[in-house]
Amino acid sequence: MKTYRIAAIPGDGIGIEVVEAGLQVLAALAERDGDFTLDVERFDWGSERYKRTGALMPKDGADQLRAFDAIFFGAVGAPDVPDHLTLWGLRLAICQPLDQFANVRPTRILPGITSPLRGVDEGDLDWVIVRENSEGEYAGQGGRSHRGLPQEVATEVSIFTRAGIERIMRYAFEVARSRPRKLLTVVTKSNAQRYGMVLWDEIAREVAADFPDVTWDKMLVDAMTVRMTLHPKSLDTIVATNLHADILSDLAAALAGSIGVAPTGNINPTGRAPSMFEPIHGSAFDITGKGIANPIATFWTASMMLEHLGQPHTAATLMRAIERVTADPALHTPDLGGTARTDDVTRAVIDAVRGRND
Ligand code: NAI
Ligand code: MG
Repeated sequence: MKTYRIAAIPGDGIGIEVVEAGLQVLAALAERDGDFTLDVERFDWGSERYKRTGALMPKDGADQLRAFDAIFFGAVGAPDVPDHLTLWGLRLAICQPLDQFANVRPTRILPGITSPLRGVDEGDLDWVIVRENSEGEYAGQGGRSHRGLPQEVATEVSIFTRAGIERIMRYAFEVARSRPRKLLTVVTKSNAQRYGMVLWDEIAREVAADFPDVTWDKMLVDAMTVRMTLHPKSLDTIVATNLHADILSDLAAALAGSIGVAPTGNINPTGRAPSMFEPIHGSAFDITGKGIANPIATFWTASMMLEHLGQPHTAATLMRAIERVTADPALHTPDLGGTARTDDVTRAVIDAVRGRND
């Protein structure tokens, strides 16, 4: 019997509510399948800790996480703490040292969920967005001078390295190859950005030579928003820089029905450090404490984590349970236009997990 050590970091706001729901579902799956157990340790890292101690997590926080097989993360962000402090103090403070350089965001229209796009149904939108997660526009290079003076200046420097681009391209081509359509779209902005984005394009072409079985094309990021909206079926796997993919994946989540159903994995493909799985949404203070957060994104996240840990059968069982539940409009939370509560959806997914025997 395998035991996986999971670090659970619920964080702030609805992060706490959805991670709790996710852990209940994971426990039900472990009980059902019986071939693995989860040893879960919870960390109280987040904005409350920041207000109490001045730090979102301990100095050696990222190192403490190295001992785990995976990290199950909620969301971070509070109304009374600046967002750049919470993001850099916790989420990026984990992703960067653990070198989780590939952010993987599957998006598709789940059964029972309506896309805001007219005439686009289940099967018409089935994408995986691969986001470069270690450099680019979020490399953390820059500064501010002459604060408060009329000549105040701020720089925010994008960093594109050959090593960084090549590893994300290879990863994206591998993902494309693993999917039935073997189709990759490389997003760029190499008409306006003449250096980093041109290097990005050149390396895409070089790496493509090693993947003759993958069909690939190139899109400028602005035109990409149009293609995603008007021709969703023409896309399959997508690779883009840190900033571009951040924006495109929120668009993708909205086109697939709600940000409340969208999962992601921050992957270190080398396996030298644990990967981190989280819903893509934030802490949603507008609905915190109301019991109506959609836990589906977190359940899908849990399925990605199980797959990554080496439990593909359990991951698939969970995905089928999720699809059964989303197919029933009575189990939709308000973000999907329904009246169900977090607990109702969680209970239904657990029942579906327990009821199935395949
Ligand atoms: P958000 O994702 O928290 O919320 C955007 C909107 O979507 C809100 O109306 C919210 O109620 C709704 N929503 C989000 N998740 C939902 C769910 N599971 N069920 C139902 N409705 C849901 O983004 P926002 O409002 O821009 O940011 C709030 C805080 O979260 C900020 O502090 C921000 O920095 C942080 N944030 C953290 C992220 C992370 O930890 N990875 C990602 C995005 C934002
Ligand atoms: Mg985002």
